[in-house]
Amino acid sequence: MRAVSGCSRCPTAARRSRASSTRRRRIRRVLSVPEDYEVLFLQGGASTQFYMTALNLMEEGQKADFLVTGGWSQKALEEASRVGDASSVWDDSDNGFRSVPQDGDYSIRKDAAYFHYTSNNTLYGTQFHHLPDSGGKPRVVDASSDICGVPLDVSAHDVIYAGAQKNLGPSGVTLVILSPWALSRGIQGIPTMLDYHTHVSKGSMFNTPNTFGIFVLDRVFAWIERNGGLEGAIERNRAKAALLYNELDRSDFWRPHAHGGSRSVMNVTWRLSDEDLEGAFLAEAAASGLVG
Ligand SMILES: Cc1ncc(COP(=O)(O)O)c(C=O)c1O
Repeated sequence: MRAVSGCSRCPTAARRSRASSTRRRRIRRVLSVPEDYEVLFLQGGASTQFYMTALNLMEEGQKADFLVTGGWSQKALEEASRVGDASSVWDDSDNGFRSVPQDGDYSIRKDAAYFHYTSNNTLYGTQFHHLPDSGGKPRVVDASSDICGVPLDVSAHDVIYAGAQKNLGPSGVTLVILSPWALSRGIQGIPTMLDYHTHVSKGSMFNTPNTFGIFVLDRVFAWIERNGGLEGAIERNRAKAALLYNELDRSDFWRPHAHGGSRSVMNVTWRLSDEDLEGAFLAEAAASGLVG
């Protein structure tokens, strides 16, 4: 059990700490998190992690390589550029972000400190169905929109972050999983709240945590565990996505946005084949109360 800041002998704090480590154990079981990895509950959303990962992993003058597969990875790249030489090694914006790259479509710089990708691209409905090649560099993933819905090899990553609001619970809590490598970086001068070590050393209770968000997140993990674990969630998602894709493919009225091998099982996105009809379609949908 971790010591609680300033009042480790306080029974309430000790109880809270025990509850918190029970929650982390459940997450470790469901996601098969290796023993030597840390599990944190942070605030500031995945958007804070765009910057925080770079601050904690990249020393001044270092490089990081990004796969830009949608708006979120664009934002992650922008934030990391504030810290060091962050660069896109693959960017599909000219093609409307309709696919994710395969290994061999890009190459990672030899001197990159780490590699970043977004596992599922919410708006574009694309998703990696393989572990992308990192050129042997530490892998960082924004898994906000598909965590617990698809297979995830935690041990193949050095930082996994996910805003809870998509798949894990309410907004306001971010799950962060760190490898021993990520924790060994030891970069100096990071503002206290943005330093992973601050939160590791205090068991995610350096400042007032989002208690309700963490509580609900734990209930969601408990539900996943009772309902077939990760395998059960994966099966349910595949079945739901297949229902939609079968319908989209059956009719030439619809046009799925994502290309075949990149289709997301989390976010199924489509347009009308005849884009001129989209205005009328949206107006009729809105009139029926289907908006947003
Ligand atoms: C893949 C992905 N990354 C990042 C974000 C932004 O997350 P947050 O609102 O927690 O900053 C989202 C949206 O919720 C997302 O889908």
